[in-house]
Amino acid sequence: MHTTPFIRPRRLRTTAALRDMVTETRIHPKQLILPAFIRDGIREKNPISSMPGQYQHTEESLRLLARECVAAGIGGIDLFGVPLDEDKDADGSVGWDPDGILNRGLAAIRDEVGDDLVVIADTCLDEFTDHGHCGTLADDGRVDNDATLELYAKMAVAQARAGAHVVSPSGMMDGQVRVIREALDATGFDDVSILAYSAKYASAFFGPFREAVGSGLQGDRKTYQQDPANRREGMRETLLDIDEGADMVMVKPAGYYLDVLADVAAMSPVPVAAYQVSGEYAMIEAAAANGWLDRDRVIRESVTGIIRAGADLVLTYWALDPALYA
Ligand code: PBG
Repeated sequence: MHTTPFIRPRRLRTTAALRDMVTETRIHPKQLILPAFIRDGIREKNPISSMPGQYQHTEESLRLLARECVAAGIGGIDLFGVPLDEDKDADGSVGWDPDGILNRGLAAIRDEVGDDLVVIADTCLDEFTDHGHCGTLADDGRVDNDATLELYAKMAVAQARAGAHVVSPSGMMDGQVRVIREALDATGFDDVSILAYSAKYASAFFGPFREAVGSGLQGDRKTYQQDPANRREGMRETLLDIDEGADMVMVKPAGYYLDVLADVAAMSPVPVAAYQVSGEYAMIEAAAANGWLDRDRVIRESVTGIIRAGADLVLTYWALDPALYA
């Protein structure tokens, strides 16, 4: 039987202007954060082969990048440091050295942009340890949670001193947010915020990042990062971080964890970020380079999905890419 519907959702899809007017999700540059890398001992910025279009920066090229971020009107920049191999040690002490590469980079960006861009520091030791783990090791070779906490506290204070507006503990040690909050408050940095990597999973999608930071990690991070199979636990980790004083929380990776993101977004009283990680970036760039995907549309769709699921903020390597705003 042929019937004529009188309720037609397609009506609102008739023209581009109408679709634009009723769209539920928009990408605004201010909600985007660009992750960026500074590397010690290089004279020119160095392309990261597994992440086409991304670089390990010199201080000079990082300053230019920070100015581009301001010009593009994005929200912030999240800085990672890549030290000289000879500066790595068992504790990652170059991470809290004021002359360490990350702290020099933070100071340079802050000097360049002042308060026109939110300057975020990655607060984790994996780039600085010779074994590549996110904390110091106990005698039995396991990552020592409690001994690592005081190192994170020192690192966060050094980053605040270097000029970070926000520190972002990403090492998944229990209790890290509280210890960092106490250390910042005790040193007069009570205005420096904490963006907590709350639900961070032991993901294979971090693969290209390991090249980006020259990681020497053997093994995996499964004793501290979460099992990708666990949704409920993402809530537990997030609730704990909020309780410990996180100003913002994060779910990471983003695109394959939209259920976790939606759960967190539904209950969080603080802003929720999601990190579209290196593997999510590399897959789309690789497929696009082969002509298998419409690059710009897929990039836009991938970030739209993350915001639709509930992210207030998105960390994405495409933050400056015109594809997002087309
Ligand atoms: C660890 C850290 C990682 C990433 C950000 N911070 C790697 C890891 O946990 O192994 C991954 C980011 C990305 O893949 O884009 N400090």
